[in-house]
Amino acid sequence: MSYAVEARQLSKRFGDFTAVERISFRVAKGEIFGFLGPNGSGKTTTIRMLCGLLLPSAGRAHVLGYDVAQEPDQVKTRIGYMSQRFALYSDLTVRENLDFYAGIYQIVSAERRQRIADFLELVGLRKHENVLVQKLSGGWKQRLALGCAVLHRPRMLFLDEPTGGVDPASRREFWDLIYSLAEEGTTIFVTTHYMDEAEHCHSIGLMYQGRLIACDSPAGLKEQAMQGQVLELSGEPLLSALEMLPRLPQVYEVAIYGTVLHLVVEQGAVPAIRRALGEDGFRIDRLETIPPSLEDVFISLVRQPLGDTLAEGG
Ligand SMILES: Nc1ncnc2c1ncn2[C@@H]1O[C@H](COP(=O)(O)OP(=O)(O)OP(=O)(O)O)[C@@H](O)[C@H]1O
Ligand SMILES: [Mg+2]
Repeated sequence: MSYAVEARQLSKRFGDFTAVERISFRVAKGEIFGFLGPNGSGKTTTIRMLCGLLLPSAGRAHVLGYDVAQEPDQVKTRIGYMSQRFALYSDLTVRENLDFYAGIYQIVSAERRQRIADFLELVGLRKHENVLVQKLSGGWKQRLALGCAVLHRPRMLFLDEPTGGVDPASRREFWDLIYSLAEEGTTIFVTTHYMDEAEHCHSIGLMYQGRLIACDSPAGLKEQAMQGQVLELSGEPLLSALEMLPRLPQVYEVAIYGTVLHLVVEQGAVPAIRRALGEDGFRIDRLETIPPSLEDVFISLVRQPLGDTLAEGG
């Protein structure tokens, strides 16, 4: 099997600060790969190296078989990239923007018209092709920016937080678009802060402080990361439970989710937890096992010492 992306021990240093530290992973062709991590964890830096825009300090990466450091131009012409702060021209119309980007990608005029028409049809922007971009909502702008990144029909698409700041309905529609591109065989590398979006990816890489702390399918991550079971607890007073529970040896993690607590505990620990809560004067309204969410997985992983969880793939 050949991979769309193969990174081995890829690193980037800025002065004496290491933004990306020896990350190794692979993305299969045709896959939707979600790249997750908190602010400043190195996602954009990684994408820029993979797009041939930033030279790695160490390690290697191949995108569509080309070495990003040795053959950046081969990479650039074959990929699409929607940057975190994408630039559309707000004083040009929808069509004029598409035409401008088609020019950058050197799509000849006969073909250009057809591809722009296809794209307008695909996203439902045909009616608005002569509207100035400044008049579009955030969701439409995002879809247009995606269109500008795929006009040259790249086999690999990098999307850096494409849905940041858009409403849930627009996010949904944007993801429908991502799925249809993936169905056509485009490999998608997408960063997001939204855990619900990550659930829809075939594979997920979790970045934390410049390191890739896990890389697997959503189901695989849940299995691998959760030694034990996840419990949801509601009752009174919640804050005293939040303080007391981490002191129990059977409890690995406690996190607050709105008005309930999520606990990651040792298998079979429920009776001991009930007892301890009772002795503490806590009134249990509900205590039950729930399937872990990716958020539980992420919290659980980042609290483990880095050395234990560093994915050594590749
Ligand atoms: N050109 C640069 N010079 C110095 N430091 C940089 C440079 N680019 C990024 N950094 C630092 O590297 C770290 C990783 O940044 P990066 O933009 O890759 O994070 P990110 O995961 O994309 O964050 P966000 O979710 O906020 O977009 C940050 O601490 C950032 O300040
Ligand atoms: Mg970023």
